Amino acid sequence: MRIDIVTIFPGFFDVLDISLLGKARQSGIIDLGVHDLRDHAHDRHRTVDDTPYGGGAGMVMKPEPWGEALDGILADSPGDPVVIFPSPAGDVFTQATARELAAERHLVFGCGRYEGIDQRVFDDTASRARVRLMSLGDYVLNGGEVATMAMIEAIGRLIPGVVGNPESLVQESHEDGLLEYPSYTKPSTWRGREVPPVLLSGNHGAIDAWRREQQLERTRRVRPDLLG
Ligand code: ADE
Repeated sequence: MRIDIVTIFPGFFDVLDISLLGKARQSGIIDLGVHDLRDHAHDRHRTVDDTPYGGGAGMVMKPEPWGEALDGILADSPGDPVVIFPSPAGDVFTQATARELAAERHLVFGCGRYEGIDQRVFDDTASRARVRLMSLGDYVLNGGEVATMAMIEAIGRLIPGVVGNPESLVQESHEDGLLEYPSYTKPSTWRGREVPPVLLSGNHGAIDAWRREQQLERTRRVRPDLLG
C-alpha cells in the first residue's frame, strides 16, 4: 500500500521508522511518503495560514499550498486514491473503517492545523479523489498529526504480512463487536492472585465459553452502546 502524508510537522512521523510499521516499510509492504506543506508555500515566510473571511478567532490554512501538494501526490498515485482529512467534524473512525481502508491501494492523509483548512480544498480534492473527513472521537486535538498516526497504525496492522501471526488479529477488542476478554500468563499465582482455574483446566470448550462470557460482561459494563 502507498501512504502519503501532508503536514507542517514532517518530523512527527519519524517514529514510523520503528516497530511493526517500520518493518512493513523495510519489507516493501508499505511505501510511505511524508510531505512538508511548507514546500508548497512560495512566499518568503512560507506562509500556510491566514485570517478567516467573515472574522472570528484563529487562523485558517490557505488553499494554494494544499492544492499544489495534493496535485503532485495525486498525479503520482498508483490508482484509486482515498484522501483522508482528520477532523473532529468527520465520521468516527472505527475498526470497521480501518478494515475498509486496509484494502485500499493508496491513502493520502492531510493534516490540518489551526482552525482548519479552507473548505475549497475538500471540494476541489473531491472532484478528483474519494475524500473522507475522519474523527478519532469527541475531543479536540491540536491538529491532524496524532490522529493520522493512530489511523495509520490501526490500518497498517490489518494489511496482510504486517502482523506476524494473523490469528492474533482475530481475537482482539472490536473485531467481533465486543471488547476482548482478560488475559493471563505465568506464574499461576502472583501476589496472592490466582489465574481463573478454568484457564488451567485444558478444557478448550469451557475456556472458550468463559472467554465469551467475560467479553459480554465487560462490554455490558464498559461499553453497553456496542451491544445496540
Ligand atoms: N483534529 C482535531 N481533533 C481531531 C479529532 N478528534 N479527530 C481527528 N482529527 C482531529
